[in-house]
Amino acid sequence: MSANSSHSLDPSCGKVYLVGAGPGDPGLMTLKGKTLLECADVVVYDALISPPILAMINPQAEQIDAGKRRGRHSMLQAEITALLIEKAQSHPIVVRLKGGDPFMFGRGGEEMADLLAAGVPVEVVPGITSGIAAPAYAGIPLTHRSHSSSVTFVTGHESAGKYRPAVNWQAIAQGSETIVIYMGIHNLSYIIAQLSLAGLSPETSIALVQWGTRPEQEILIGTLNTIEQQIEATGFQAPAIAVIGSVVALQSVLSAGVVS
Ligand SMILES: C[S@@+](CC[C@H](N)C(=O)[O-])C[C@H]1O[C@@H](n2cnc3c(N)ncnc32)[C@H](O)[C@@H]1O
Repeated sequence: MSANSSHSLDPSCGKVYLVGAGPGDPGLMTLKGKTLLECADVVVYDALISPPILAMINPQAEQIDAGKRRGRHSMLQAEITALLIEKAQSHPIVVRLKGGDPFMFGRGGEEMADLLAAGVPVEVVPGITSGIAAPAYAGIPLTHRSHSSSVTFVTGHESAGKYRPAVNWQAIAQGSETIVIYMGIHNLSYIIAQLSLAGLSPETSIALVQWGTRPEQEILIGTLNTIEQQIEATGFQAPAIAVIGSVVALQSVLSAGVVS
């Protein structure tokens, strides 16, 4: 996708490429994204980017860690945008490297809009989102003709002051056979309580996939009734994707055929 022509773009300015790094396995990086990393002048990257992907970056490029972790932002969003604008004024190829897909819970839409408003040309290069890749590497298909014809991707961590109504967990529980939750671990008891109120059985299957597609991938499987105790007992931690629904049962069959 190219920059929107309704904005007046500065022709002397370099271009910012909003690149999705995928979920961690370097083999899941797109060819277009890899080529851009190899010829970038500046790369501004987020916290969850895996080391083999950072190793693809042009060694001559300026590399800036804008990594954000829950509760301790190393750079504010406005600072990142200002930095990208500044770098694009003096460099032809600026890559903004984001985990997974830039437009899936990655603030890519906001960053792109701010850059375009500042007259900076922008192009988005999609990546494979963790909500699809982590379950796949764990052996969980999100849809299956015998289990699920619908899937919802939802955030479990709503940012403070977000100009949106809260997530409607009741509608999701009733309308979707598979639920994929990003950033849900810290808020899991609230989410489970909401889904239970909406009528999901305590026996509903749930899988948590931590560091999906990376060598350190861990999977925890249980039910809505048991999973919190399992997290406590194992010390399971974010970052993880949660998958809720009967497709989770397929993991015991399909995990024999997935990447390990
Ligand atoms: C700010 S969101 C960014 C999502 C990203 N844009 C994407 O498309 O995957 C960060 C959350 O994504 C999920 N996540 C990202 N990478 C992951 C991975 N390799 N394994 C499991 N979950 C991951 C976790 O829920 C994490 O808290």
